[in-house]
Amino acid sequence: MLRCTPSLLCIMLALAAGAQAARVNLRGLSMANDEELVVGFPRPPHDQHALMARWLVHQTSWGVLSTLDRDTGEPMGGVLSHSDGSRHDASGRLFFYMSPMDELTQNIVAHANCTFTVSEDQIHTSTDPTTSTSSSSLPAYRPCAGLDPEEPPCARATLLGHLAPVPPAEQPRAQQALFARHPRMADWPADHHFTFYELHVSSLHLLSWYGGMALVEGADYYAARPEGQPQLMR
Ligand SMILES: *[C@@H]1O[C@H](CO)[C@@H](O)[C@H](O)[C@H]1NC(C)=O
Repeated sequence: MLRCTPSLLCIMLALAAGAQAARVNLRGLSMANDEELVVGFPRPPHDQHALMARWLVHQTSWGVLSTLDRDTGEPMGGVLSHSDGSRHDASGRLFFYMSPMDELTQNIVAHANCTFTVSEDQIHTSTDPTTSTSSSSLPAYRPCAGLDPEEPPCARATLLGHLAPVPPAEQPRAQQALFARHPRMADWPADHHFTFYELHVSSLHLLSWYGGMALVEGADYYAARPEGQPQLMR
């Protein structure tokens, strides 16, 4: 049984100070302004469309949800944070934490079909697939650096499906995924009644290279498995 003794406290404080120093170092060495961008999976080849979509969903932390206005039926989009798992767990399941005070949530309650779009341009650093290790002497690899977000090699995916509340038995899973990537969510006000939602992907549109959009079935998206181990990124 671990007891919190003064010496243990000292060790914890030292570790915390070390982690803080590492973060400062990380910021100084790379373009990363988000200390979450530390561990990632290698970028898949652009022609492996289901895998690329899985990679994009996992490496990004937010996207744009497109809904239909509950009153007028007109399009309405908005920024929404998502997570498919911790940095070590790329499950592909898209979890969200939504408040009924948000117009997007109200639209979803009225009409659950929606799309969710993510762009690789959001990813500040990633591992270069041509190098097996990310040595601190290598420059950060940024596939979208120098590209316009609309240019095809800067990958993006629009996922189509319906958003549904996560059933009680699955809520710990959703919470674990979201709070690992969005720790501030744990402190969001209780009176905003945030609820876990999941996007059930029926199909998706992916652009990751020249030659037009690829269409991927939801079943193929969920069946794809990100390859390799999570690695340290800078
Ligand atoms: C939602 O999408 C599904 C298929 O993706 C479709 O069968 C269904 O009719 C849609 N629902 C509405 C209300 O449009």
